[in-house]
Amino acid sequence: MGRPLLCPGLLMLACCIPASWGLRCMRCERNGHCQVEECALGQDLCRTTVLNIWEGEWLEVVERGCTHPEKTNRTMSYRMGNQIISLTETMCGHDLCNQPKPGRALAFPYSRYLECVSCTSSDMSCQRGREQSLQCRHPWEQCVEVVTRSLQGSRRDEQHSRGCGYLPGCPGPTGFHNNHSFHFLQCCNTTKCNRGPALELQNLPPNGLQCYSCEGNSTGACSSEDAALIDCQGPMNQCLEATGSNGPGKPTITVRGCATASWCQGSHVADAFSLTHLNISCCPGSGCNHPLRDVQYRSGDAPWPSPARLSLTVTLLTAIRLWGGVLLWT
Ligand SMILES: *[C@@H]1O[C@H](CO)[C@@H](O)[C@H](O)[C@H]1NC(C)=O
Ligand SMILES: *[C@@H]1O[C@H](CO)[C@@H](O)[C@H](O)[C@H]1NC(C)=O
Ligand SMILES: *[C@@H]1O[C@H](CO)[C@@H](O)[C@H](O)[C@H]1NC(C)=O
Ligand SMILES: *[C@@H]1O[C@H](CO)[C@@H](O)[C@H](O)[C@H]1NC(C)=O
Ligand SMILES: *[C@@H]1O[C@H](CO)[C@@H](O)[C@H](O)[C@H]1NC(C)=O
Repeated sequence: MGRPLLCPGLLMLACCIPASWGLRCMRCERNGHCQVEECALGQDLCRTTVLNIWEGEWLEVVERGCTHPEKTNRTMSYRMGNQIISLTETMCGHDLCNQPKPGRALAFPYSRYLECVSCTSSDMSCQRGREQSLQCRHPWEQCVEVVTRSLQGSRRDEQHSRGCGYLPGCPGPTGFHNNHSFHFLQCCNTTKCNRGPALELQNLPPNGLQCYSCEGNSTGACSSEDAALIDCQGPMNQCLEATGSNGPGKPTITVRGCATASWCQGSHVADAFSLTHLNISCCPGSGCNHPLRDVQYRSGDAPWPSPARLSLTVTLLTAIRLWGGVLLWT
């Protein structure tokens, strides 16, 4: 077999490696039940997600499993009422590397580093200006502000948090908006530098660019017939178009809107919209992400982005949301 295999770009890594090759990770549910999991194609990392809740003492909930190669280590902490919520996600890349370490004590560092302002929309403290201070517990954390908003049908789902974090996309600002969603992250590294009025999309001035906005399939919401422009705001000065699917065999979804350049390179899109097999492109001219527009001059056709610069906090926030039940029984 001296002949090189011809591989389409996306499958390059997967198809040139013997079929028996596949990462194995521990899969552990929140109830502590663990088993070995054979990772699916394209899932090249093992993940450990730890949720710590402080309310007089630390409670810990752990989940483990396979994950996508663009995931990176990240942490975020914030105050919610009398509690401190802290999420840590660590990735590793060899067989069973996310195995629980037996007998490990709660490894939560008690050192104190940067002091940040903290609040969350979960207890309305951001909206009401009831910010508290929070000491970061890792030397590499910065003060962060994160906003995610999506319109699902008529339901508006918005999360706003401030606290300490080590997040891909920092220092930012990094963000995206269209008529349905708004995702934004900014970070800073001096004492309480993340204070001030809560960041709202409507307070960001138009920047002169107009882009097409949609979320859906190419015959539905994202068809050329339904194409409609929106005004881009703040630092989101690129027109973005991304396609991907929610999983193998699922229909292709398109997302269009205004973005910062950092969103064009990375899996922020993957995190925010739960899409895999992404194809993202961005362009700088008004209306340049039109469905029928020739794509030649677009930059950043990146089927799989490089792992170094990627990802936002949305997964983290999604995890917090999914784990809302946990918070109730603590
Ligand atoms: C992620 O964190 C783990 C555990 O702390 C560490 O072993 C690994 O090197 C980190 N990976 C990166 C890319 O920083
Ligand atoms: C703080 O942030 C600034 C701007 O992002 C950066 O230049 C500087 O190196 C950072 N300092 C530390 C100690 O992280
Ligand atoms: C596209 O979306 C529309 C409206 O949501 C739906 O009726 C249609 O079946 C979808 N088409 C495909 C090919 O998924
Ligand atoms: C976006 O939403 C605004 C307000 O809800 C509406 O007036 C506008 O027509 C919408 N634009 C598009 C392109 O859907
Ligand atoms: C990504 O999109 C570009 C332009 O829309 C297209 O030419 C290219 O074939 C797509 N790549 C993949 C892997 O789908």
